[in-house]
Amino acid sequence: MCGIIGIVGINPVTPRLVEGLRRLEYRGYDSSGVATLINGHIDRRRAEGKLTNLEARLGLEPLAGTTGIAHTRWATHGGVSERNAHPIATDRVAVVHNGIIENHRELKAELVAEGRRFDSDTDTEAVAQLLTSFLERQMSPEEAMAATMARLKGAFALVCLFAGRHDLLIGARRNCPLAVGYGEGEMYLGSDALALAPLTRRIAYLEEDDWVVLRHDEARVFNAGKPVTREIKTTALSGAMIGKGNHRHFMLKEMHEHPEAVSATLRSYLDPAARAVSPPSLPFDWKDVPRLTITACGTAYYAAQIGKYWFERLARLPVETDIGSEFRYREAPMPAGGVCMAVSQSGETADTLAALRYARSQGQTILSIVNVKESAMARESDVIVPTHAGPEISVASTKAFTAQLVVLLTLAISAGRARGTLSAAREAELVDALIELPSRLAEVLGSHEAIVAIANKVAEARDVLYLGRGTSYPIALEGALKLKELSYIHAEGYPAGELKHGPIALIAEDVPVVFVAPTDELADKIASAFEQVHARGGKPILFSDAAGIARLGSKAFASLCLPDVDPMVAPILYAVPVQMLAYYAALAKGTDIDQPRNLAKSVVVE
Ligand code: G6P
Repeated sequence: MCGIIGIVGINPVTPRLVEGLRRLEYRGYDSSGVATLINGHIDRRRAEGKLTNLEARLGLEPLAGTTGIAHTRWATHGGVSERNAHPIATDRVAVVHNGIIENHRELKAELVAEGRRFDSDTDTEAVAQLLTSFLERQMSPEEAMAATMARLKGAFALVCLFAGRHDLLIGARRNCPLAVGYGEGEMYLGSDALALAPLTRRIAYLEEDDWVVLRHDEARVFNAGKPVTREIKTTALSGAMIGKGNHRHFMLKEMHEHPEAVSATLRSYLDPAARAVSPPSLPFDWKDVPRLTITACGTAYYAAQIGKYWFERLARLPVETDIGSEFRYREAPMPAGGVCMAVSQSGETADTLAALRYARSQGQTILSIVNVKESAMARESDVIVPTHAGPEISVASTKAFTAQLVVLLTLAISAGRARGTLSAAREAELVDALIELPSRLAEVLGSHEAIVAIANKVAEARDVLYLGRGTSYPIALEGALKLKELSYIHAEGYPAGELKHGPIALIAEDVPVVFVAPTDELADKIASAFEQVHARGGKPILFSDAAGIARLGSKAFASLCLPDVDPMVAPILYAVPVQMLAYYAALAKGTDIDQPRNLAKSVVVE
């Protein structure tokens, strides 16, 4: 959701700023731009569309300068155009911004009344004009920034470049991430450690309402008018970890990392020798928890829904799940002693973060399952139980999802043990099933040819249905979401039991119906739905195991045989073929898989 980067440098910065944008493009990709100082004057190049357009522009009109800022945009206010692309500049200051300035109309009215002329339709221009107005009143850049911050409402990460000050950048954050990078005689600011990884590994994360004055050799951080210290950490990320390797897309690379994401996460939460989970230490006892609430957005929400089945079944614990954007405004009553879990790859999703804050206001203990340990959700939680999926760049979440499921299942098992609802023998069986998962996942990845054949058929459809029951129902939802967002084919996920209450009207020979159907205690029920689709001339596509294929495969339009696994871990395995199906259908359709239209990762606005 908009990526920003800035360098106070000693060598020409434009190539490195553009390289940084390449690593931030997952946050938005409708336009991009870069600004530097040339003889003290702000100069910029901007281009609508993908970063390659900006690169082409810079090829024709290079931009020198040793201090600069850059931005890749996901439009919120103001259409996609070069004039709305960041950096947004006046003759005094250039600004890159991630987030939304909620009071921009009010600020603009004031500034226009002062005689200022706005050149863009963005909310960000209110920041640039306000800063300019303060600078023209003889304030220093530092004073102007403090005065500007006091006027801003909403969410922002900002980096500002000042005319005549090649030794200075000023950054600020509220509800959007911003990291400071420490170099040798150079300093950096960026939306995340990924952007800065090839420049430096020494990173400090700014906190809410921090602003930072960056010089060649120092970063002075302020909060509420006072200097503050933010710890410098060494990130484990390296530039090499965030390339595509030999893969055509980040999504393909990241799907191939499912086995490693799952095993790295398992290593943290299992004790294979004891055939038991080794839960993280928690600031509550599962025995005393009256209710668990799990909140998340997008794919992470489907992980939450699967978690609900697991906690209810294994730990007999009442669970409520809701998507962040609904939960944050529902004013749901929450019980004393309750626990709220936030599930998020980025740890920055605005709606999930707001839901977490609501739960905190209701006295809940907050546990977050995040992939980015330095994220806002991690900071605002009582305890974090991280996934170890590694950086995920593709906009569509893949390996973070399977890693989230692993964390949720191991936590549900430990809750079951604590609450006395799960026997040691069953725990041992589940642990064995989990230990085998990375190999089973690798087998599924190996069946890509069969999945490509199915995907080529699905790619011809206009509408596709996905059906599942129990924990396979959220996998059906995930399959439908992935197909929609990557291939732009309309798809819907349904619990198979609801087929007869509406979606059966859609069954036709040109509507493939994907059945997510491991052989579990609901296998007979899903078989009935399958027969109903078949009897009406539909095109059932069966994702099942050997027993399921033996039972229904002959009537399927296409089928995929998956390894036998304990039904409790089946959703972790079945997540992979539904993702692969969407990937290969999108490939057949020729869509932009890593950067689907209108989408972005790390959605820090409402
Ligand atoms: C975006 C991404 C999804 C992701 C969702 C939640 O919509 O495209 O893939 O599932 O955000 O993101 P989070 O970082 O909170 O898991």
